[in-house]
Amino acid sequence: MNKDTGDKKFTNKLEQDAAELFSGKISGNLWPYLYGTPQDANDQVRGGILYNEMLEGEKDYYLYKYEAELFQTKGHLLTSLLGSNATFIELGPGSEQSIRLKTLPLLRSCSNLSGYVGIDISKPFVDKVLEVIRSEISGIKTEGIQQDFTQLKSLPDVEKPVILFKGSTIANLRRDEVPVFISGIKELVGKKHYLFLVHDANQDEVSLMKAYDTPKMAVFMENIMCRVHRDVSTVGMEPKEFTYKPEWVPDNHDLKHVLTATKAQKFDIQGETIEIEVGQKFHTLSSFKYPIEVFQKMISAAGYQSIDVIQDQSTRMAAHVFEG
Ligand SMILES: C[S@@+](CC[C@H](N)C(=O)[O-])C[C@H]1O[C@@H](n2cnc3c(N)ncnc32)[C@H](O)[C@@H]1O
Repeated sequence: MNKDTGDKKFTNKLEQDAAELFSGKISGNLWPYLYGTPQDANDQVRGGILYNEMLEGEKDYYLYKYEAELFQTKGHLLTSLLGSNATFIELGPGSEQSIRLKTLPLLRSCSNLSGYVGIDISKPFVDKVLEVIRSEISGIKTEGIQQDFTQLKSLPDVEKPVILFKGSTIANLRRDEVPVFISGIKELVGKKHYLFLVHDANQDEVSLMKAYDTPKMAVFMENIMCRVHRDVSTVGMEPKEFTYKPEWVPDNHDLKHVLTATKAQKFDIQGETIEIEVGQKFHTLSSFKYPIEVFQKMISAAGYQSIDVIQDQSTRMAAHVFEG
């Protein structure tokens, strides 16, 4: 097993989360396991790869493009509010493309940037972000930490911390998880700091379905069952017997990622027998689409004050700076 992927660290929590999902106790809780990485050439777990294939192949998936454009054209409006000597602490920096198109333009627009810390569950992503930042920006302190950002016990003590959480990842957390996660970060930083958060505020069902109800998105979302099957003891489970369809629940701003069983199945998880019927639905995770005010209220409830927000031309993508 290739421990470098970091996948193994998640296994116990994944087992519990999968058991709760299949037994109907909870839903929308599999988001941390989406970007799994293969451990050998025959491994079917390919979430991170399929995500990139979806980005490249689905022209109507606007989130990534519009966010990059937002950072490149208006990022300076937010970084100018931070003043000099900031150190960015980024949660889940992602692929090289994500670093080059989104993180770097933001860092370059800072005045007298002091440092950059990248925290990612994936060792290859940690190594890559350090390589790119070090080669592109000189004279700053850099650090890479391979860790699950939901299980952080401490954060580096830096002069002016700016927590960067891009890619709308905050909107994959269940709604009840957001305040707990954000308050936890606030406590770990332990001093005055900024929070730089990005989310998609689009409420239009037509463009949402064009973005999410696509063949490559389906392959990416369905792959999470391969992850469950690989990392949890689920003898007899057939991970490919699920089909994807997103569902939009406007009242909760909830774009649900739903997998429907295409075959009856019976398998055990944590000593409990799971029986699945054909047509049974599993809401594996969500991409919440909070309107700006709803998002600001949610983050403010965790003890932060909104400083500013910028939007891209379509007014879908929103980037916020909060102070805490
Ligand atoms: C595919 S990227 C998408 C978000 C990325 N920030 C962007 O803007 O493109 C997700 C990143 O978060 C990392 N990640 C996901 N869950 C994580 C967790 N619980 N702890 C640390 N890193 C995580 C993944 O390894 C990956 O680098």
